[in-house]
Amino acid sequence: SITRHYKFDIQLQNVTRLCHTKSIVTVNGQFPGPRIVAREGDRLLIKVVNHVQNNISIHWHGIRQLRTGWADGPAYITQCPIQTGSSYVYNFTIVGQRGTLWWHAHISWLRSTIYGPLIILPKRGVPYPFTKPYKEVPIIFGEWWNADPEAVINQALQTGGGPNVSDAYTINGLPGPLYNCSAKDTFKLRVEAGKTYLLRLINAALNDELFFSIANHTLKVVETDALYVKPFETNTILITPGQTTNVLLKTKPNFPNATFFMAARPYVTGLGTFDNSTLAGILEYETTTLHSTLSMNKLPLHKPILPALNDTSFATKFASKLRSLNTPQFPANVPQKVDKRLFFTIGLGTNPCSHNNQTCQGPTNRTMFAASINNVSFTMPNTALLQSHFFGQSNGVYSPDFPISPLIPFNYTGAQLNNTNVGNGTKLMVLPFNTSVELVLQDTSILGAESHPLHLHGFNFFVVGQGFGNFDENDDPKKFNLIDPVERNTVGVPSGGWVAIRFLADNPGVWFMHCHLEIHTSWGLKMAWVVLDGKLPNQKLIPPPLDLPRC
Ligand code: C2O
Repeated sequence: SITRHYKFDIQLQNVTRLCHTKSIVTVNGQFPGPRIVAREGDRLLIKVVNHVQNNISIHWHGIRQLRTGWADGPAYITQCPIQTGSSYVYNFTIVGQRGTLWWHAHISWLRSTIYGPLIILPKRGVPYPFTKPYKEVPIIFGEWWNADPEAVINQALQTGGGPNVSDAYTINGLPGPLYNCSAKDTFKLRVEAGKTYLLRLINAALNDELFFSIANHTLKVVETDALYVKPFETNTILITPGQTTNVLLKTKPNFPNATFFMAARPYVTGLGTFDNSTLAGILEYETTTLHSTLSMNKLPLHKPILPALNDTSFATKFASKLRSLNTPQFPANVPQKVDKRLFFTIGLGTNPCSHNNQTCQGPTNRTMFAASINNVSFTMPNTALLQSHFFGQSNGVYSPDFPISPLIPFNYTGAQLNNTNVGNGTKLMVLPFNTSVELVLQDTSILGAESHPLHLHGFNFFVVGQGFGNFDENDDPKKFNLIDPVERNTVGVPSGGWVAIRFLADNPGVWFMHCHLEIHTSWGLKMAWVVLDGKLPNQKLIPPPLDLPRC
């Protein structure tokens, strides 16, 4: 293993998309941002220097950060943001992880332009547990607003309504030929015939889960969230914001007389925002000498068939196909005994006029959108939770009383209800070191059922069960898969249903958990865990680095 150094200069850059030029916040002037490549076991030192007016912080999505929570990145959770003119070195080691992850800004909506791939190769000499790919290609989905995304979210929070939807989805920053004025900004994947490509798919979109497909080609899923899965073939994948999926693409044995669209469009349930447009890129076969006289532009273009916008049945089937690889080399260490069983309701509602530090402006008799976990809409503190925890100064910053809802018979997914109980607060749940947790996440249909991609920082978890309707504490656990459930860091809680996850709290620190639909996070669908130190020296959070930003 080696130490790899990166420097991220946060700076403004003019970028044109959809014939619209604007100045965006970038890393090193690049959009999407630079690719980080490392090997399992490497140490990363990434110096982030803030040259813009916005406060900034960067999260290494899916990196476990064992005992190094200071480098995790969510603003006001593990660190104060890096202020204008300041810098911070993210210092962490990649322990026991390999695969596709990504990094993104973790403050307000700046991740709309600040994101990039984080690729972890296996240790030198260790092969993939699948066909060695001829080439590897990161493909990141994103969203583009002609407006300033910071203005979009600020306006939504001030008015209490929903935000404007984005103007386009993008692949590696490019919207593709189906939008107005963007044909020249099309992602093209040039391939050779008869080869295997590893596509590293990343959903960095802010507010939409996406279906993705390549016309006339099959995708073989081999990894999700940097964890190997039992390979299976599919024409279409579903990927939620926050998730990553590695697929093998085997190209046609001979040069085909066609080019092919790859396309993505949202999977929309409930209140989801979408603009009905389709993101497209192009899969183009490189001509051999034999075909060099063919004009590529004249080739017919095939389009893939994507599931309907609300195809929950596809989403469910796709989720149930995902299994841990579970071989002796990559065992699925599913916690078999549980120390703590928890039940969290997650959902959208409305709230009297105040949430998320937003004090009420304008008329006071209106309601605002709010989102909550166990009826708590999370209020961001003014200082970082991890520091408060480490220095024993939690008083007035957070309270360790995150409510535990009892499993009372209640029709969470029935008719729409008035959620008069939602309150605001910075409430955390405290876990002793090495607690084995089983957590049921129950979607509620208070304002309308909706799929929520829940992301947990600091851990991977096993998805032991999922279902529709209300979780049944007596019957459903009998059907849990405790052998080879998929392990990941972000899971789609089905619209009008539930998922059950298990994880071992073996990583001391303060860990954020939130919906990766950015608007839901902004509305308060988030909470945090405190995992206490263990007794042994190597079970304790390391002390903070000297350059840790102050609030
Ligand atoms: Cu990908 Cu808390 O984030």
